[in-house]
Amino acid sequence: MENNFDLIVIGSGPGGYVCAIRAAQLGLKTACVESRKTLGGTCLNVGCIPSKSLLNASEIYHKAQKEFKNFGIEATDIKLNLSKMMANKNKSVLTLTKGIEFLFKKNKILHLKGKGSILDKNTVEVLDESNKKVSYKTKNIIIATGSIPTSLPKIKIDEKIIVSSTGALTFDKPPKNLIVIGGGYIGLELSSVWKRLGSNVTVIEYLDHIIPGVDKDISSEFLKILNKQGINFKLGTKVTSVNLVKDKAIVDFTNNKTSTREQIECDKVLVAVGRKPNIGEDIKKIGIQLNNQKKIQVNKKFETSIKNIYAIGDVIDKGPMLAHKAEDEGIAVAEIIAGQAGHVNYNVIPSVIYTSPEVAMVGKTEEDLKKENISYKIGKFPFLANSRAKVNSETEGFVKILADEKTDKVLGVSIIGSLAGTMIGELAIAMEFGASAEDIARTCHAHPTHSEAVKEAALAVDKRPIHF
Ligand code: NAI
Repeated sequence: MENNFDLIVIGSGPGGYVCAIRAAQLGLKTACVESRKTLGGTCLNVGCIPSKSLLNASEIYHKAQKEFKNFGIEATDIKLNLSKMMANKNKSVLTLTKGIEFLFKKNKILHLKGKGSILDKNTVEVLDESNKKVSYKTKNIIIATGSIPTSLPKIKIDEKIIVSSTGALTFDKPPKNLIVIGGGYIGLELSSVWKRLGSNVTVIEYLDHIIPGVDKDISSEFLKILNKQGINFKLGTKVTSVNLVKDKAIVDFTNNKTSTREQIECDKVLVAVGRKPNIGEDIKKIGIQLNNQKKIQVNKKFETSIKNIYAIGDVIDKGPMLAHKAEDEGIAVAEIIAGQAGHVNYNVIPSVIYTSPEVAMVGKTEEDLKKENISYKIGKFPFLANSRAKVNSETEGFVKILADEKTDKVLGVSIIGSLAGTMIGELAIAMEFGASAEDIARTCHAHPTHSEAVKEAALAVDKRPIHF
């Protein structure tokens, strides 16, 4: 058995596997421990990838039913074959997880199969399926163990009737009535999937708005659109209990302002109230320092309180719980260990909600700027006035650019609209290069594309949009 590694990464999610590949590229002898049967972590196996497969398939189904006729396409007798839709999702997941196996082989990364525990700063023990334990010596350890769903007091997720996102990606039929607790990323993406596939969906959200942290302009527009799509919302409402009665669930909730209590019976309950870091007993035992939210504290070099043990991704006290943030941290920490200057710019991390329309943002929101007393200018442009969006019948939403009042530097961008998740990339690059709104406005954008709305919003910062 090979031993004496430069680096052992624990966890093969987007943070861990990307870190292992970058480390191997830099010539470090690298191993990656994974307890799941397939590589890729939550994102590939039960998160981003399967949810995007169902979002895509359910959107096509919805369009075939409701929108094809507007384009002159007569399709009759459109039926849902959910087991085939699920099989297609599973196939995509398998192909991508196999892809990481291939990349590991190509980069000569040893895949250690089993549950990894840190014994000390130079030893990782791996417990395999047959309960066999093997210890490996290493100069450096990276904790990339991700996060797990949280629940609410006294609500026990059984993945049958009361489910987390994992269970909600594998229903064998659309629930007649689905209650979603939490109007965040997971709640709204999966509400969209099951609404399109025929469920009656009600989202119960504690706050008086959906998606905490998103620009308020965007979240109120988003709420209007989702309401129009037939998703019901109970905002400013706290779920107090969920009780199982035979094969149904009774959800009790209370309005925060009026204290009115209500009850809904449903077939499935999705609990989507956030995720918590996946901190193993070994981490507590060896005394790695956690913050008061039970996240691992790391310094600028991603080093924990124990030298040579590093941590990245959802387990750490930096940045949002997003796959691409973890990937960038994985690259940075591998480079730091190899003696280079790895770095992550936490001010420019885009985030995307893959609903229809999509919601995407990077940098500050208007609320952030007000709180920080920064003077700003706003440029907004609606997709209704964008020719490509118009011919595609994708006129919902807008681009909103916030630029510094004096310097015109772009401080934040939020987009709600079709292709928002793809378009946000150009804004992340612009912000990374310190662009002004004028820089974007003077950059030639192809016609006809949705991205012209970005250019127009940049022109609108200086009150000179052409098409609005
Ligand atoms: P979230 O933090 O996005 O949303 C949770 C929501 O639940 C919040 O709106 C919160 O106010 C609400 N809530 C909390 N307690 C409640 C209660 N008692 N009753 C009613 N509502 C309550 O968490 P979510 O959606 O579970 O996602 C977890 C993580 O996964 C997030 O950090 C997110 O960034 C990530 N994720 C990202 C995706 C993407 O990038 N597209 C997709 C899915 C997840």
